[in-house]
Amino acid sequence: MRSLLSKSALVLLTASALGAAGLAFAHGDVVPQAVNTDGLPQVKGPLEENPYRANKDKKVVAKAVEIGSSAYNQNCARCHGLGAVSGGIAPDLRMLPAGVDGDEIFSQRIRHGSVRNGVTYMPPFEGTFSESAIWAIRSYLDSVHVDE
Ligand code: HEC
Repeated sequence: MRSLLSKSALVLLTASALGAAGLAFAHGDVVPQAVNTDGLPQVKGPLEENPYRANKDKKVVAKAVEIGSSAYNQNCARCHGLGAVSGGIAPDLRMLPAGVDGDEIFSQRIRHGSVRNGVTYMPPFEGTFSESAIWAIRSYLDSVHVDE
């Protein structure tokens, strides 16, 4: 009985330590990483629609997805999950509406973040990301889109 008790106490301790570490990781002050968009046609904005989506050159679209994937992993995955599969802290970005409807939600949010009553739920990325970097990330999210 004794050993059983201490074992469950240990499990509890470990679980709460992991939980705290997970939260600190998710909401810690991580400096936004600038995104190198070399190799992409550069765009100027603010645009309201993904300029790469309609590009007829498949290589441009592929490059946008590649750059966007790396930028997503460095700047968004800690809250929105690896591969855009949400762990529950923040919305699952695979389910953003496809096309221009999703572009609008995306564009507002990535530029301005989410700040309510002085609490930053999501930092703004305007000023950190170029317009090209913003739409490269959207291109990556397009590539992992699923219907709800
Ligand atoms: C510190 C955690 C955090 C980081 C980092 C973060 N987000 Fe968010 N994001 C959130 C939270 C929390 C919400 C929900 C905000 C709300 O409901 O007010 C959200 C909402 C969004 C939404 C709106 C989703 C919807 O369904 O309405 C988009 C789009 C989004 N984030 C994109 C991004 C992108 C792209 C990045 C990286 C460049 C990013 N976020 C980085 C926490 C984060």
